[in-house]
Amino acid sequence: MNETIEIQHSHRSTRSYKTDPVSDEMLTAIIEAGHRAPSSMNAQEISVIVVRDAERKAKIAELAGGQTWIAQAPVFIAIVADYNKTDIGVRKAGQTQVIHESMEGLLVAGIDAGLVLANMMVAARSLGLGIVPIGSIRRSPQAMVDLLGLPPLTFPLVGMCLGHIEKDAPLKPRMDANTFRHEERYDANGYAAAIDSYDETILEYWKQLGRTDGITWSQNLGNNLKQVYYPQVKPVAAMQGLLNDK
Ligand SMILES: Cc1cc2nc3c(=O)[nH]c(=O)nc-3n(C[C@H](O)[C@H](O)[C@H](O)COP(=O)(O)O)c2cc1C
Repeated sequence: MNETIEIQHSHRSTRSYKTDPVSDEMLTAIIEAGHRAPSSMNAQEISVIVVRDAERKAKIAELAGGQTWIAQAPVFIAIVADYNKTDIGVRKAGQTQVIHESMEGLLVAGIDAGLVLANMMVAARSLGLGIVPIGSIRRSPQAMVDLLGLPPLTFPLVGMCLGHIEKDAPLKPRMDANTFRHEERYDANGYAAAIDSYDETILEYWKQLGRTDGITWSQNLGNNLKQVYYPQVKPVAAMQGLLNDK
């Protein structure tokens, strides 16, 4: 089709990196792709923090629950909701910022952070680099806030490992496209059958990878979604001033 769409269609998360550094030129181009992402109300309430120091990356890997690829990748980029930045503008206009205390404020920061992440992912992969998003920076959010020196009105939303690929990951199958694309109205009729089929596909995928511990998509979701897997998000976000009470 075209190169951009090919990059998007071939997306995969990389969890095996070479130690070779990412050049400043590449890193700047990738970050600029994130910076050019749209933001709701043009609020630009997202900041990114580039971490290259080995000790700090090792600490983030530990806080994320022992994800070795965070320490291994030469670059880790934390994507942060930054209502501290917008607050300066709002105060300049003689107003009092409230949006950071609302569900809308958290939602829109999550959406805008996702757009920054997506732009940086595509840019990185177009340069032949590997990436993996890291949601586990919300596993121990207070320690991340401390490590990154985040002031009130900010919160670490998601991260991204970046580096030269040591071992390319295989394409992970997705559920039937009909469970994703709906025409005119929402239609869940095919969901149960598609999930049955996808559970088989995923088991086969793990088998092909030689993973004897592979479980179905349903089992995996059951294990993860039966609980609030990052319970510290709400209290730490509230301590940062992102109260989510409006
Ligand atoms: C917001 C977000 C957070 C994620 N967090 C992690 C993470 O903490 N650690 C990890 O290894 N992978 C993480 N992933 C990667 C997913 O596990 C991966 O995208 C999914 O299994 C599909 O595989 P693929 O990206 O190779 O297609 C995350 C992905 C997204 C979009």
